[in-house]
Amino acid sequence: MREQLLELKEKAEADLERCVDLEALNEFRVSVLGKKGELTKLLKNMGRLSAEERPVIGQLANEIRDQLETRISRFSETLRDQGIQRQIAGETLDVTLPGTDVRTGGRHLLYQVQEEIEDVFIGMGYSVYEGFEIETDYYNFEVMNLPKDHPARDMQDSFYITPEVLLRTHTSPAQNRAMEAMCPNIPVKIIVPGRVYRRDDDATHSPMFHQVEGLLIDEHVRFSDLKGTLLEFARQMFGPEQRIRLRPSYFPFTEPSAEVDISCVMCHGRGCRTCGGTGWLEILGAGMVHPRVLEMGGYDPGKVTGFAFGLGVDRVTMLKYGLDDLRLLFENDVRFLKQF
Ligand code: PHE
Repeated sequence: MREQLLELKEKAEADLERCVDLEALNEFRVSVLGKKGELTKLLKNMGRLSAEERPVIGQLANEIRDQLETRISRFSETLRDQGIQRQIAGETLDVTLPGTDVRTGGRHLLYQVQEEIEDVFIGMGYSVYEGFEIETDYYNFEVMNLPKDHPARDMQDSFYITPEVLLRTHTSPAQNRAMEAMCPNIPVKIIVPGRVYRRDDDATHSPMFHQVEGLLIDEHVRFSDLKGTLLEFARQMFGPEQRIRLRPSYFPFTEPSAEVDISCVMCHGRGCRTCGGTGWLEILGAGMVHPRVLEMGGYDPGKVTGFAFGLGVDRVTMLKYGLDDLRLLFENDVRFLKQF
């Protein structure tokens, strides 16, 4: 029996090394050391041994079992290491796989439209001039021909920082700043895009909104030049079929003054909900620069004339994109903004 045990050990040690993976090794372990394994089968014959032989053979069998267990567990570690090595060796970097998506931001719809407006006027020879969002009472009102006690100041309810400093209520103060900077040169041919502030807040009025101011000062500038310029703008912005309408109005800094409408972009003038059945939509205020405003800017109203206009960017955006609530533009909901 002793020989049989030693033979089993020798054979098992040789077979063990032939296991190619952990699965095969486990099967091998069961076939030798398991309940129905070869070693167990062999030991069933122990009963036939003499009382002296039994403990000796028993001890030998236990030693062989221990040795085989140790060899098996050592070899299983070797197999595991080999497996990992193989896996690493098989891994290659596939540079053709799609990369991680980088999300880029985009320009806000309002500034896309503002830029489009700028482009139209740049195409007509205007330069972009920047004013200040925080203005003095002097520039926002006084030099716009709105002295302190002027009732037309009520048209623009303002946010004051001090009694003399406020958030500009319109881009018009830049008219005078530009005149001061350029006088006595002509022509002054600028647009001034930017944010303006008024104490208003509902579906069509926001306390912060956007205007593009226009100013042209030169010799012989006429009202018809203003009209032609605005018609060209409307056509480039809303399509070649666009018509405009000028209604007499009042601004302290222009004379004569007009409220300018474009034919309704929804119904093309037939009358609908957007235009309140009139067929027209108001988008800007305009007029010939008041002689006092020219004077305060350093120009001689006897030698030069000019026109000015103030365009509502938010309103143009709403009309161009069919938005029914101005607040959509300021809530910063990406689901809305992503559409443009
Ligand atoms: N500043 C005026 C407003 O905000 C618009 C305007 C500008 C009117 C220039 C005439 C000339 O209402």
